[in-house]
Amino acid sequence: MRIFVSKDMASVALGADSLAEAFASAGCEVVRTGSRGLFAIEPLAEVETDEGRIAYGPVGPNDVSAVLDGSHPARIGRIEDHPFFSGQQRFTFARCGVTDPLSLSDYAAHGGWKGLETALGLSPQAVVDAVKASGLRGRGGAGFPTGIKWQTVLDAAADEKFIICNADEGDSGTFADRMLIEGDPFCLIEGMAIASHAVGASHGYIYIRSEYPSAIAAMREAIARSATKIAPFTLEVRVGAGTYVCGEETALLESIEGKRGEVRAKPPLPAVEGLFGRPTVINNVLSLAAVPFILAEGAQAYAEVGFGRSRGTMPVQIAGNVKNGGLYEIGFGVTLGELVNQIGGGTASGRPVRAVQVGGPLGAYFPPSMFHLPFDYEAFAEAGGLIGHAGITVFDDTVDMAHMARFAMEFCAVESCGKCTPCRIGSTRGTELIDRIVAKAPRAAGTLETLPQMRNARTAARSHEEEIDLLRDLCDTMKHGSLCALGGFTPYPVLSALDHFPEDFGSGHALTEAAE
Ligand code: NAI
Ligand code: SF4
Repeated sequence: MRIFVSKDMASVALGADSLAEAFASAGCEVVRTGSRGLFAIEPLAEVETDEGRIAYGPVGPNDVSAVLDGSHPARIGRIEDHPFFSGQQRFTFARCGVTDPLSLSDYAAHGGWKGLETALGLSPQAVVDAVKASGLRGRGGAGFPTGIKWQTVLDAAADEKFIICNADEGDSGTFADRMLIEGDPFCLIEGMAIASHAVGASHGYIYIRSEYPSAIAAMREAIARSATKIAPFTLEVRVGAGTYVCGEETALLESIEGKRGEVRAKPPLPAVEGLFGRPTVINNVLSLAAVPFILAEGAQAYAEVGFGRSRGTMPVQIAGNVKNGGLYEIGFGVTLGELVNQIGGGTASGRPVRAVQVGGPLGAYFPPSMFHLPFDYEAFAEAGGLIGHAGITVFDDTVDMAHMARFAMEFCAVESCGKCTPCRIGSTRGTELIDRIVAKAPRAAGTLETLPQMRNARTAARSHEEEIDLLRDLCDTMKHGSLCALGGFTPYPVLSALDHFPEDFGSGHALTEAAE
């Protein structure tokens, strides 16, 4: 009997290895796959039957015999019929959780290499045109049109060009890059090989954060196994050293070149002068992994899904205090409320949702009154936020938003590369300012023991409202004066917390209510 058990790191953390061993000891043939992406049902076992794969989860080693005789109460049935999966549009993650990630024959049997074969029959310009027509935008966070980036590199004259995949997935609450690399690494390799043909690059790098040892091992093995398939294009993995800012594309270039991970001023754009001064495509894992579908199924098939200028699908990662944490791939346009309440199932604690942060540590916090927002780059930008890498972190009504705003400033201070003043100094001053705001808040009367050390008499004399004005002013300077997104986007969580949850900073309507 064939049993499928995920070897994704999240599944392993939940006990998938001992489950797989127990099935093997019971005489089953165990196939290790990637994860289906719903962690509440992990560890998950799928049993091959005449009706398809029948899933059971969560189950452990002691459940093996009940799973094998079909009597276990955690029987889910066909996984495709489970409500978390039946509503998804899996373009990028179609094979994740289905195939053996390192089996070339499994990959080919599930539509693998079709996109590359189509691309190789087309001129480089025709491939770039197809990517443009698909409407694909950079999935790392900025949403820049991928086809236009590729066009810039195609048009640049140079003796050597590079393709770099940014897998330094640093945003808290995101895991789609890791899941794809562990669950379907050939898909990323195929996307990079298509990009190499499109722009004329001979070599590529996959820059993976050191915190992802399984992804690094899977990627290296997949590169070795597919080398002849993508030749003469060659690939190698570079491992980051654990700093958030190396996810910024120019700091990443410095890191690959063997230098300290510090941001470069743009221009020149990496597409014109990138790695070792050569034209370089730098794309996120999800952007490159979307390309095989586009070439295999046609740009139109991708473009017809989506909302406004946000075309295709987005693998949304739902995390934090939420019942159904996991990855949900769907066309743009689904509302934030649907993602949190219907798909995510609300909070794990059962308490009301108070806030969600969208776009990682640099993303804005939204209250439930904004849950009507469609998942779309422009709609989120208009609402003072960003989609970023599509990580959603859910908080219940016990969250202290002033604390979260402080965390954003502190995170920036810790991760700042130090190159520009608004970020390097501003983030530290911002942390101190939030401490003072909280300490001086009217509701905090009587808790003066938490009052931080005032730097001087002037600081001590400033009123609560004046401190808030100063924080807003500082955020404005950071937003417009920082060299990269780390300093430039830190104001999003801070200002959104201040705007939507003023009561946590000791001002606004809710404070009045509390005082009454
Ligand atoms: P950006 O807007 O400066 O650039 C976006 C991309 O387009 C870059 O690759 C840039 O080189 C390229 N580009 C711009 N104009 C071009 C042109 N005319 N031709 C060719 N290429 C062109 O944004 P940036 O600073 O690269 O990224 C910021 C985003 O990163 C934020 O939205 C944030 O959400 C995201 N981010 C993602 C993280 C993650 O873990 N995935 C972590 C931190 C931030
Ligand atoms: Fe470095 Fe921060 Fe300036 Fe970015 S904003 S260049 S991380 S100091």
